[in-house]
This record gives sequence, structure tokens and C-alpha cells, in this order.
Amino acid sequence: MPDSSSEPSALSALCQNTVAVARSALGDRFQAEALAESLGLINLGVVRPRDVRDFPVLLFLDEQGLGLQVTGKGAPGPVRAEFVTGKMGYRREHGGGAGQLVAKAVGLQKTRATLHVVDATAGLGQDAFVLASLGCRVTLFERNPVIHALLADGLARAALNMDCEAIVARMRLLEGSSIDWLLNSDAEAADIVYLDPMFPHRDKSALVKKEMQVFRTIVGDDEDSGQLLAGALERARYRVVVKRPRKAPAIEGPEPTTRIEGKSSRYDVYSIKALPTQ
Ligand SMILES: C[S@@+](CC[C@H](N)C(=O)[O-])C[C@H]1O[C@@H](n2cnc3c(N)ncnc32)[C@H](O)[C@@H]1O
Repeated sequence: MPDSSSEPSALSALCQNTVAVARSALGDRFQAEALAESLGLINLGVVRPRDVRDFPVLLFLDEQGLGLQVTGKGAPGPVRAEFVTGKMGYRREHGGGAGQLVAKAVGLQKTRATLHVVDATAGLGQDAFVLASLGCRVTLFERNPVIHALLADGLARAALNMDCEAIVARMRLLEGSSIDWLLNSDAEAADIVYLDPMFPHRDKSALVKKEMQVFRTIVGDDEDSGQLLAGALERARYRVVVKRPRKAPAIEGPEPTTRIEGKSSRYDVYSIKALPTQ
């Protein structure tokens, strides 16, 4: 569940000029006000995103919750952290269980122990949700306050759903950089550290999904992946797992022990020691 005790991170000046908070007539007014205040963003009140000219992106609240919404005519629909319906809902009901590549990469087929996974690059929480639905306890770190707000909203909505409640109860969201946590030797042990930093894409073509374009506008590239990997290798007890686009080079640092390739992504596994069988 979102941890409300953590300090909100400062939002970059770029984000403050790019994003405003707004809502539909059915969006929660108090949630919008609190969000704008905590992120230091302008609150536009009730708007139609297609009519907004001054901000290219909105944190937009409607009856379905919080979404990242591009403004102007013909913009694609909102990007949300959605676990109950859509792609994640389908995957929860029909997904391949421990046979999924991410589960193999983490080593779930090799152990019956409940693993504590630290997802050090949470994003919209999709990978973490899959791992939690397979029984892992997952601590998620997200350093971008806009993405953190989307994820906190998605988890709060999923916690109200009967089928997701138990899964979300295994997830703990923290705000801030995981690098600080990874480098703090007093922090709780992590069995697995999972990394999926933004890969610098120079490709501006239509092939880059619309969803990823708005996400990239807010997050930018994660240029400090080498530091993240180094910290993860210090902290993980059994493995570090890194998700990469299939053809991308590995993160700078030691060579992975194994690579597991899927259709569009690849998992680089850095083994530290064998997983316990029980
Ligand atoms: C590609 S997305 C992760 C997607 C995620 N695996 C999912 O399934 O939705 C990368 C995210 O990691 C975050 N991030 C990168 N480095 C981080 C760090 N050191 N600490 C916390 N968050 C980080 C970025 O802000 C971005 O939201």
C-alpha cells in the first residue's frame, strides 16, 4: 500500500511548466486540491482536456481515478496505473503464472520461499503487481512524484477490489530514489532487486507507443542506471534482475550471469547465490 509517511520529492521545473492538475465534473475535488498542493502544481479545476492550451499534460481526475492525460484535440486516452481492468486485469486472470518470463528471471520456479523483491524502478507498477500476484512481497520505489501519484492512486483503487486486495497488501510503495536505499546498509534485506530503468530511446517514430511518449515526457531517461546496478548488486541477497529492450546493451557494469529473451524485452540476471529451495 502507498506509504503516506514518506516525504514528497521536489518536482522538476520542467514538470511544473508541463503538467497541471485538473478534473472532470465527476473527479474528486478534494483529491485534486491535495494533489496540486503536494506537488506544487497549478490546479485548473474542471476542464475538458481537449480544450486546454497552456499545459501539454494533465494529471486528470475523473470517475475512473487519476490519469496522465495529453491535452488538445485528438490526444490519446489517459495513462493510468490500472490493475483491476484492462491489460493487467486480463493478465491477472489468464496470465501464465510462474511460467512468465519475469517470474523465471526472478527464480520463482526454483524456490517455495516467499521472496522479498525490491522493485527499485516502480513506474506504473506492472511488473511489481505480477510478482506480488505470484506471492512475492514487493517494496516499490518511485522517484518521479507524478508517476508516484499515478501509482499510489492505482494501488489505492486496486485495494478496494476483492480480487486485487490480497495482492496489493503484499506491495509497499515508497517515494524517492532507490539508490539512497540501496546504498544504506541498515536498510531491510532484499532477496531480489528488480530494475527496469528507462532506456534512452532516440527513436521518435510512431513505433514508440503513445503511452510511452507521455511517460517519457515526464520521466526523461534514467541516465544513472550504472549506479543503480552497482547499488543493487551490493544489496540483493540472491539475484539482481534487469529488464531491457531485447536488443539494448546490458547496463554498464559486470556481465549478467544469464539472459532470458522474450519477444520485445530481455531479462539480464545477475546471480549472487543460489535461491533457497524452501
Ligand atoms: C521503465 S519505468 C518502469 C516500469 C515498470 N517496471 C512497470 O512495470 O510499470 C522506469 C521508472 O523507474 C523510475 N526510476 C528510475 N530510477 C529510479 C531510482 N533510482 N529510484 C526510484 N525510481 C526510479 C523512473 O522514474 C520510471 O518511473
